[in-house]
Amino acid sequence: MKKPGEVFADASVYDPGIEAIVPRYDELHDAILNSPPHDRNDPVNVLELGAGTGELTTKLLTRFPKSDVLVVDHSEQMLGEAERKLETFGDRATLERGAFPDDYPAAEDEYDLVVSSLAIHHLDEGRKRDLFDAVYESLSPADGSSTAT
Ligand SMILES: C[S@@+](CC[C@H](N)C(=O)[O-])C[C@H]1O[C@@H](n2cnc3c(N)ncnc32)[C@H](O)[C@@H]1O
Repeated sequence: MKKPGEVFADASVYDPGIEAIVPRYDELHDAILNSPPHDRNDPVNVLELGAGTGELTTKLLTRFPKSDVLVVDHSEQMLGEAERKLETFGDRATLERGAFPDDYPAAEDEYDLVVSSLAIHHLDEGRKRDLFDAVYESLSPADGSSTAT
């Protein structure tokens, strides 16, 4: 049985498939990429929730060449695709299998940026609230440039 958000039974068809069924998919990612207040060369520590095959992750790591991204996703299949795609970024990308909000990586004041695309809407209202509380706790207050997108 498919897990919420897996979309296709075969994760290897996700990339062309999602572009076909989600209008302006790339523009959605562009909007996320253009939101953070960080400069291109900032060493941004990012958490990405529900990264799927790592499309947005790839764009983040490219847009911010000194960033690191921790990816959390509950789908083994999707993470398998992401692992292959993100190999080129070496240890800048870390993949973790888990279901948020329960498996939200324990962290306080840790991330400069928390992002997610097409994943959080699967949670009911209570679990969304739990997740957003965890996101808030985990964001670094540093210089006021921490952002959830
Ligand atoms: C539609 S895909 C989006 C993938 C990617 N963010 C993108 O923009 O193409 C949703 C992803 O979120 C993951 N997901 C959905 N709900 C989740 C949850 N509660 N915990 C962990 N992963 C979840 C799914 O496994 C899937 O990989």
